[in-house]
Amino acid sequence: MKTIAEILPLATSYLAERKIDRARRSAEELLAFVLGVKRLDLYLQYDRPLIETEMEKMRACLVRRIKGEPIEYIMGEIDFYGCRIEVGRDVLIPRQETEIFVDLAVKGIRQQPLEGRVLWDLCSGSGCIGLGIKRACPELRVVLSDLSPRAMAVAEKNKIKNHLDVECRVGDLLQPFLNEKADFVICNPPYVSTKEYEEIDSSVRDFEPSMALLAGKRGADFYEKLSRELPSFLNPQARVFLEIGHAQGLLVQEIFNGPPWRHLRLEKDWAGHDRFFFLEIE
Ligand SMILES: C[S@@+](CC[C@H](N)C(=O)[O-])C[C@H]1O[C@@H](n2cnc3c(N)ncnc32)[C@H](O)[C@@H]1O
Repeated sequence: MKTIAEILPLATSYLAERKIDRARRSAEELLAFVLGVKRLDLYLQYDRPLIETEMEKMRACLVRRIKGEPIEYIMGEIDFYGCRIEVGRDVLIPRQETEIFVDLAVKGIRQQPLEGRVLWDLCSGSGCIGLGIKRACPELRVVLSDLSPRAMAVAEKNKIKNHLDVECRVGDLLQPFLNEKADFVICNPPYVSTKEYEEIDSSVRDFEPSMALLAGKRGADFYEKLSRELPSFLNPQARVFLEIGHAQGLLVQEIFNGPPWRHLRLEKDWAGHDRFFFLEIE
């Protein structure tokens, strides 16, 4: 039987020879996942031998990884803004930038009393955004919605897993909210243009759902639709938080230019790119 100390370098070279990024880190994450321990605990149990079923599971994980499958799908869960979020091929893997987005939105949302207020997380996918916000702002009523019934089934599981009381609806953008109004709307919609999609990393194109990414010729279909349709779904002074592509700052400012929109503000990610667009209705 091989020990953790022996398996780790073997797995690392197996991944590195096949040009997998961050081979050592990936080997550690997969081994920790297989053994059900934290990554750093591997070093406290260096002499622990792996039994055959663990070896088999590790081999299967490595094979999936060298075929380009993102590690998050292999492990099936990630941590996101204090929640444990299940992810699978029906939902986009929540990105680190989206955690910054949620954090900025939470800071904005908390500036007012939240009792009786409602927030919609449109295009919610795994539910990571709405669930993260509900956890941070329990007094807010939160509704998640997505066009994909399969994504919504994942969001339902995540709601239960995290013991959070949110509502889940399926439908096209604002269609699940006919005759209702929100105080806050947050949305990380598909925003990749047709051309960008052709050049996108193969681990994204081959594994993540295209309907979570593609948004027409300019990548702006959802922003255009929201700028036209959202006003009649908002209470006065409602606030809107949108994630955008790193080159879409000017585009969204044009799209949401003028009344009834006001207080337009771009916010940056850690790399200094405009990635978030916050605004308010009159
Ligand atoms: C960029 S992903 C965001 C997922 C999640 N909110 C996140 O930040 O990780 C966009 C989501 O929009 C959903 N979607 C695509 N078209 C839609 C539509 N017309 N109406 C509602 N949701 C849609 C996709 O199923 C996908 O879950």
